[in-house]
Amino acid sequence: MRILVCGGAGYIGSHACAVLAERGHDLLVADNFINSSPRVLGRLRRITGRPVFFQQADLRVRADVDALFEGPHFDAVVHFAALKAVGDSCRRPLAYFENNISGTIHLLQAMQAAGAKRLVFSSSATVYGDPDSVPVREDAALRTTNPYGRTKLVMEQLIGDLCESDPSFRAANLRYFNPVGAHPSGLIGEDPGGVPDNLMPYVSQVAVGRRARLQVFGGDWPTVDGTGVRDYLHVMDLARAHADAIDYLVGEDRSLTVNLGTGRGVSVLELVQAFARASGCAIPYEIVARRAGDVAQVYADPSLAQRLLGWRAELDLDAMCRDAWRWQSTNPDGYGKAAVEQAAVEQAAVEQAAGETALHEWAALAAG
Ligand code: NAD
Ligand code: UD1
Repeated sequence: MRILVCGGAGYIGSHACAVLAERGHDLLVADNFINSSPRVLGRLRRITGRPVFFQQADLRVRADVDALFEGPHFDAVVHFAALKAVGDSCRRPLAYFENNISGTIHLLQAMQAAGAKRLVFSSSATVYGDPDSVPVREDAALRTTNPYGRTKLVMEQLIGDLCESDPSFRAANLRYFNPVGAHPSGLIGEDPGGVPDNLMPYVSQVAVGRRARLQVFGGDWPTVDGTGVRDYLHVMDLARAHADAIDYLVGEDRSLTVNLGTGRGVSVLELVQAFARASGCAIPYEIVARRAGDVAQVYADPSLAQRLLGWRAELDLDAMCRDAWRWQSTNPDGYGKAAVEQAAVEQAAVEQAAGETALHEWAALAAG
């Protein structure tokens, strides 16, 4: 199939590209690199052994989005492109609403105009807020606690309303729990800018020596060891679910909303211990006050995804830590954005030129 991957240069999008390419799909990646590096594209080429078609596009700009649909018809669109940092969204709510919601409206408008009617959407466990009980099922109450979460909920609703209004439009809302880990090659992985907000990238940076110690937010939660419990899942398992969701949308011709998690809760200290084992590095930590807005435990009931998609997470916590460590230890500065800003800008120009060539080749695919 021909698939448009919006936000395909990002953490989860790049891993999904690797899996989709491996399944033989032709991909057009669209991104504006607002939170990613053009270097990802070269790495993806190395992983897949195939050209990665790329077009620079900002989903906030309707003309950019329309241009994506000027070439061959897309059998499916995967929509990863969003801003995702909770704290940042509290400081800049309008930027989040503009980027995430207007970007999604433009994409849906362009899909409708082009007759592209299969969408896989990156939703999040954030739509459950602080759930009444765990494991969380898809029919749990939806209530978000921050602007980022509200954009995700509104995006789900926009997509749901479009499906209602056009009975031939099909969407898969995939509610991710806590994606971690990296591609087994160590060539792509998570590269947060600045100080990581999330646990696994912070732990990785402590292990590699970029940060002195982890602060554990709260040791008095009502959990197994007093620290917060979450449902960490390997990004390669998550990536596979996107390919399965596309098969479902096309094969079953129905929409769906599913949780993607392992169904297993892991505490902060359990993760720290597993990472220390996988990396052979000590992870110094101190227990500090709870983080505002945190909850004790959130983990998924992933049985609906298994029933509908035949999907279940296969990789365990040790594999998540091993692969995160391979990526972090071989790329201690990630894609090196901060260190070599200029080189990245030059690389972007090269990738843009390659993308333009790629677009001609892409158009030739349609003609041929
Ligand atoms: P990411 O920031 O690494 O990837 C997002 C990509 O989208 C980046 O490459 C960014 O440059 C691009 N992008 C953002 N706005 C854009 C725009 N206006 N135009 C073009 N490109 C744009 O994030 P990620 O962790 O890969 O997350 C992907 C998706 O999954 C997001 O929608 C996020 O909300 C969702 N999600 C992520 C997590 C997580 O823990 N990582 C959990 C649940 C849901
Ligand atoms: C994050 C997102 C949330 C999203 C979810 C799943 C934030 C603030 N929230 O929350 O919107 O739905 O992922 O993608 O980004 N921890 C520490 N020290 C740290 C970092 C984290 O102790 O330096 C603890 C937290 O208190 C929590 C656990 O580690 O108990 C996981 O934290 P994190 O990785 O931020 O994930 P979520 O809290 O689930």
